Amino acid sequence: MKILGIVLFCIIVVGLTFTGAYAVKKITPEERGRAFFRDANFADSKKSCDSCHPNGRGLEKAGGKKTFRIMGKRQNSIEEAVNFCITRASKGKAIGTRSREMKDIVTYIKSLMKIEVPGYGVPGYGVPGY
Ligand code: HEC
Repeated sequence: MKILGIVLFCIIVVGLTFTGAYAVKKITPEERGRAFFRDANFADSKKSCDSCHPNGRGLEKAGGKKTFRIMGKRQNSIEEAVNFCITRASKGKAIGTRSREMKDIVTYIKSLMKIEVPGYGVPGYGVPGY
């Protein structure tokens, strides 16, 4: 009886361990990007992106845009806009335009376009395909 208990315990422990490992592996670029977005220390920053853009609010169209204007300055790509906010708004250090962090953040920002926002259904307005 005791042996059976130990065996069952081991099966459960091994099962949970593998479930945990599997869950870690399954984190998507979008989820990593969201985690960076909420991390106050991301890119040596003082503030998280989320503190000014709670849950990505206000960035729903950013994923489909080519040019940006933040704080009176123009940016010619989403990567430039992200780095502008990192250095000017979050007081951090710019990250590589082709780095994995940048790709993850951009993937997260693009995922915000999927959120239903009033006005997206209006023809000729908003994101293509809506
Ligand atoms: C101190 C506040 C602040 C912080 C922190 C901040 N931003 Fe911004 N962000 C702004 C302001 C202000 C604008 C320009 C106005 C707007 O479009 O909402 C902006 C605009 C943007 C835009 C362009 C939106 C558009 O559609 O034109 C992107 C993309 C963006 N931020 C990403 C980020 C990311 C990524 C971070 C974290 C690294 C971040 N921001 C942190 C204040 C902030």
